[in-house]
Amino acid sequence: MKKNSAITSIAISLFALFVSLSINAASGAPCGNYLSKDGLVKGECDEAYVDAKDKASLQRGAQIYMNYCLGCHSLKYARYKKVSEDLEIPLDMFQENLIFGDQKMGDLIQVGMDPKEAKEWFGNTPPDLTLEAGLRGPDWIYTYLKSFYIDDSRPLGVNNKVYENVGMPHVLLDMQGTPRSVCKQIPVIADNGGIKQDPLTGQQLTQEKCGFLEVDDGTGELSPKEFDQAMLDLTNFLAYMTDPMKVERESIGTYVLLYLFIFTMLSYLLYREFKKDLH
Ligand code: HEC
Repeated sequence: MKKNSAITSIAISLFALFVSLSINAASGAPCGNYLSKDGLVKGECDEAYVDAKDKASLQRGAQIYMNYCLGCHSLKYARYKKVSEDLEIPLDMFQENLIFGDQKMGDLIQVGMDPKEAKEWFGNTPPDLTLEAGLRGPDWIYTYLKSFYIDDSRPLGVNNKVYENVGMPHVLLDMQGTPRSVCKQIPVIADNGGIKQDPLTGQQLTQEKCGFLEVDDGTGELSPKEFDQAMLDLTNFLAYMTDPMKVERESIGTYVLLYLFIFTMLSYLLYREFKKDLH
């Protein structure tokens, strides 16, 4: 009987380990018309390597959020004070640079805009983004933020590859530069996975494919690489918002597993002692 219980508790601790690993591995949602760089895959999101421990990245993300997003999207389940503590931004610095209007450190992060008015302007109400990363996944958000492009047929002059006919303006246009959806010649891939060649000339065959995103050279405040990093920081910040206890929880989790392990060992030793007495 006792042996069974030792095996059971080992099984339980292993199960707990697997569950915690597989929750971590859950990834984002499919990304609409987003085309991979080589043009071969459509609808797959770019991976956002978010890191809740990277405080510098979270601070940069918070700064972008407060300056460019908070005008429309609240984070109404969070308070300024908690964010400044978690992100290790000194209170006075936070207050001076990241709080606008008459809001106070203890306040929830709200917007001043009336949702009804917003609906009139954009066709849709800008949703609260506290839980957005849980809803859509960081990969989706990261790809969405990089996927705006000029589209004169839309009321706001822009569209989005991930979220077609989106009602949000491209608020980071100055930062990114002018993004366009362009066509390119890409190699034709043969059934065997190689590049198809012209049988006579030996030249590689190409075909036109449209829907690639490209930023007009020199139009942005940031280079494409810097912009990607900025969007990653912003995504990291939103991922932290959804799960502000992540770092803390994971370190507690390690202790719990350690405890279970030690406890299992002890109960096994006890079991051996008891068994000795029986013989
Ligand atoms: C001028 C107002 C405005 C600003 C500023 C703004 N957004 Fe939006 N955003 C919207 C509106 C409106 C929608 C809803 C679009 C729709 O549903 O068609 C939206 C939608 C979104 C969504 C998709 C929500 C969903 O799951 O459907 C995300 C993510 C988002 N915004 C992120 C951001 C981020 C990050 C910033 C800052 C860089 C930002 N927004 C700045 C108006 C704004």
